[in-house]
Amino acid sequence: MKVVMATNNQNKLREAREILLPLGIEVLSQQEAGANVEPDENGETFADNALIKAKAVYDIVKMPVFADDSGLCVDALGGAPGVHSARYAPKGEECRKLLREMQNVPDESRRAYFQCTVAYIDENGSGTMSASCVGKIGYEERGTNGFGYDPVFLYNGRTLAEMSSEEKNEISHRGAALRLLYEVYQERYGK
Ligand code: IMP
Repeated sequence: MKVVMATNNQNKLREAREILLPLGIEVLSQQEAGANVEPDENGETFADNALIKAKAVYDIVKMPVFADDSGLCVDALGGAPGVHSARYAPKGEECRKLLREMQNVPDESRRAYFQCTVAYIDENGSGTMSASCVGKIGYEERGTNGFGYDPVFLYNGRTLAEMSSEEKNEISHRGAALRLLYEVYQERYGK
């Protein structure tokens, strides 16, 4: 089965392919499917934004589409950066800014979680599913794998950027949400 991922984020696309291809689902990028759009992500929730992205691409390609809206929610910052994670700091500076804002926060208050909400649309309708990955914010950047906030997000003592992509996909918010999407595809298409 072929599906289109509504994203211009190459890291999300890579991870989605790593997770879904072994399950028999081929993921086309929106460019490969002929949809060069970048809709305004002006929703208030992860689900709003995921649906905005999925719909913008579905209206063009008219084949099964899914989108991922995700972000990092930090307890000590009242859940920020949350849905604004992509715009929290200039690209490449998000970890440094977060570490700065967290410098006086004690160990026991450094809990954070990644959330991933996936929206899917096909001729049978649309839906969303969400999953999270709970960990804590470290004190320095560690590791070179992954993207975004991975170097400062600790899970069982290691940052996500210190894990192989297989290890990250096993425990990540995106891995869990995409495995729920796979269940929907199995029900709808026997895939
Ligand atoms: P959006 O879903 O396009 O709004 O962007 C989500 C942003 O959250 C990304 O640009 C990253 O900064 C961050 N993010 C989401 N998932 C991950 C992840 O798995 N690792 C690190 N950062 C992530």
